[in-house]
Amino acid sequence: MDRDSDIHALQHRLAEAGQSHLLWFWEELSVSQQQELHMEVKGLYLEELGQAFQKAMKDSSHLPGQEIMDAKMEPVSHEVLGSVTRNRAQLSAWEKEGLRQIAQNKVAVLLLAGGQGTRLGVSYPKGMYDVGLPSHKTLFQIQAERILKLQQLAEKQHGLKCVIAWYIMTSGRTMELTKSFFLKHKYFGLKEENVIFFQQGMLPAMDFDGKILLEEKGKVSMAPDGNGGLYRALGAHHIVEDMEMRGIGSIHVYCVDNILVKVADPRFIGFCLQKGADCGAKVVEKTNPTEPVGVVCRVAGVYQVVEYSEISLATAQKRSPDGRLLFNAGNIANHYFTMEFLKDIVNVYEPQLQHHIAQKKIPYVDIATGKLVKPDKPNGIKMEKFVFDIFQFAKKFVVYEVLREDEFSPLKNADSQNGKDNPTTARHSLMSLHHCWVLNAGGHFVDENGTRLPAIPRLKDASDLPIQCEISPLVSYGGEGLEEFVKDKEFHAPLIIDRSGVHELVKNGL
Ligand code: UTP
Repeated sequence: MDRDSDIHALQHRLAEAGQSHLLWFWEELSVSQQQELHMEVKGLYLEELGQAFQKAMKDSSHLPGQEIMDAKMEPVSHEVLGSVTRNRAQLSAWEKEGLRQIAQNKVAVLLLAGGQGTRLGVSYPKGMYDVGLPSHKTLFQIQAERILKLQQLAEKQHGLKCVIAWYIMTSGRTMELTKSFFLKHKYFGLKEENVIFFQQGMLPAMDFDGKILLEEKGKVSMAPDGNGGLYRALGAHHIVEDMEMRGIGSIHVYCVDNILVKVADPRFIGFCLQKGADCGAKVVEKTNPTEPVGVVCRVAGVYQVVEYSEISLATAQKRSPDGRLLFNAGNIANHYFTMEFLKDIVNVYEPQLQHHIAQKKIPYVDIATGKLVKPDKPNGIKMEKFVFDIFQFAKKFVVYEVLREDEFSPLKNADSQNGKDNPTTARHSLMSLHHCWVLNAGGHFVDENGTRLPAIPRLKDASDLPIQCEISPLVSYGGEGLEEFVKDKEFHAPLIIDRSGVHELVKNGL
């Protein structure tokens, strides 16, 4: 087909889909810009997109009212619940089982790192962010080192050399930077063949009438299709086959922005296996009824995540006889899947997942003026699938409750925006946790006069610094093995413990 008839075919397709405006500036574009736009528009599944838009808009306008949702909700049942505080006696058995699986190369981790990180506002992938720890390690490095340490712990327990395969989902916007960052840092000590990158899909942004927006005169505004784009991407890039080839049985899925994430947590894996679960969710206790967090619960008998906006205050405030909130299983996007379950999702259920609509402020080129508009209120939508939307397909779903201060501190916002979930809070949560690890292992901190500092620092307000203490994941995964470094010893902060030893930065003049 020659170029002209190709363009005519494209014009025809666009006209049928009501998207002719995408070629509005065609004559103004250079030949190479025309070629790029042509390729881009050709790659859009216009019919499927139109249907998805109609369906998502219809669903979002027919969301059950809060009262209807309230009436259908039931809390997580006790039989499927495990807890690090209430099941202390079982923790070591779960951990042992998890490490046994790791030692047999049966565990993989899957990182969701395709987001745009708009709230953090940096131009590079979030995993490359340095929150300002004494070591200046990035989120990617911290996660890589936790994987390395777990491999060592499993090897030590079972005498078997082992590998935790690390699958990293990126998007068109983060792939190249992510890959070159890993290459530059020599995969942080992991083997290159065990770090597998794949790319999620993108969808065009649209206005409220379903018209696709242009980001430039010759460029469609595209955004990643949500962290639930995972399932389609796993199929499209044959990742499930790769996992099967490696003999993987259990997969831990998590988000890039949680600085405390326990990648491939052996206790979580051991718990899910012991329960015979095909799908599991890690949660933290929601203690404040108005905290804006989704909760894991049953709706009409099926497990799902209910967003805070979907329930009434009265339901959010309901309490169990023990005084805790009735709906307290706060979702932290930290999931367990068996290989069989993941395969079923990818091969059978994925097409059933619905898109969610997020109203956003999307910069666009105005067709009438040809000028770029940066709206100050939402002007359009992005369509996304969510990673947790597959709970409904689980045959045996379980929930594992962990402590927020040990495992959850997400990096969402820039420091300048507000006091929550930003680089400062992420840095402080990690250092507070490591401070506790030192104290629990019998170490002490002293001030410049040699006076012992109180175990619970008296922070007057949020701007006060916690005791600066950072322990390399290569030394300790979860607080274990620190006695030999710290027992009955006194330290001045800032303190770093890494494989080369204990470093008091001020004393050493660092
Ligand atoms: P968020 O929903 O917090 O989005 O992602 P984000 O991109 O990090 O930040 P904002 O909303 O633009 O400020 C939660 C997790 O899901 C991943 C993110 O990388 C993060 O780990 N994610 C999100 C994807 O992998 N793909 C997506 O399309 C969206």
